[in-house]
Amino acid sequence: MTYFPVSALRSVEISTPDLAGSTDFYTRVWGLEKVAEHGGKIFLAATGDDFHVLELKSGTTSELCKITFRVGSLEDLSAILQRAVEAGCVIMRELGPSDGPAGGTRFVIREPQGSVIEFVHGDTRKAGAEVANKVLRLAHVNINSASIEALSSFYQQVLGFQLTDRSKMMAFLRCNDDHHAVVLAEASVNGLNHIAFLMPNLESVMRGSGLVVDKGCPIGWGVGRHGPGDNVFAYFVDPHGVVIEYTAEVLQVDDSYRVKGPDEWVWPPGRTDHWGIAPPKSEACKKAQLSVPFAGARSV
Ligand SMILES: [Fe+2]
Repeated sequence: MTYFPVSALRSVEISTPDLAGSTDFYTRVWGLEKVAEHGGKIFLAATGDDFHVLELKSGTTSELCKITFRVGSLEDLSAILQRAVEAGCVIMRELGPSDGPAGGTRFVIREPQGSVIEFVHGDTRKAGAEVANKVLRLAHVNINSASIEALSSFYQQVLGFQLTDRSKMMAFLRCNDDHHAVVLAEASVNGLNHIAFLMPNLESVMRGSGLVVDKGCPIGWGVGRHGPGDNVFAYFVDPHGVVIEYTAEVLQVDDSYRVKGPDEWVWPPGRTDHWGIAPPKSEACKKAQLSVPFAGARSV
């Protein structure tokens, strides 16, 4: 059985031009819970056992500041750091104790395409529980890349992920039994495509989406069922242009899973998902999926 040094996608950090407004949106509308405020950042938890799944901080615009992965051991942490340096990553924070409220031992790098990635071991966990219509944990982060094959090989060779599927536009990568924790999307610019939050089940995606709609945020795409990963989805655009997804029923895979390529992931004309009942993706959602850069990317 494949051993994955990275065990999970833990959290994502984004900046927002309206910290109070975004905190209100992600708690009151999206259903997360504020659990800490530290160093100017707001830490928001889901109902699972991660201390938090989303960090918000003030910025001039919405940017993807950091992706955090949990690592299985201190040895794996050191090994990933060494491979990352050899692969040309810039060390943003040396290996050491985290100063954030989730704790643990961590280091932070910027990979060659510009995203900042944190790796942590021994971070604080809480007692988690599935709650109907509430986010359990993160499901995946989808990254735009102008050079998708290079980033795909970085995730595989340096971070130990495995490719599970490759459609014409996207590469799907796993670090545990979930079909994907990271998706890379071909795009003209590097940046964040969207963040997906895992719901307990399909019913919670439906009812949770209805609650978001009730609070004035329309669905940008969905509800539907994806091809690769077979997960159900509903996409929204947050008040400052970050695309977020409720998802559930992500395909569980093991080493026997057969990787399929672009020729096998082809929809019939007019289809973009298995069900074929969702209206076309909104223009606002399409635009937002290409509009959130990596923080500091312009200076790298
Ligand atoms: Fe997604």
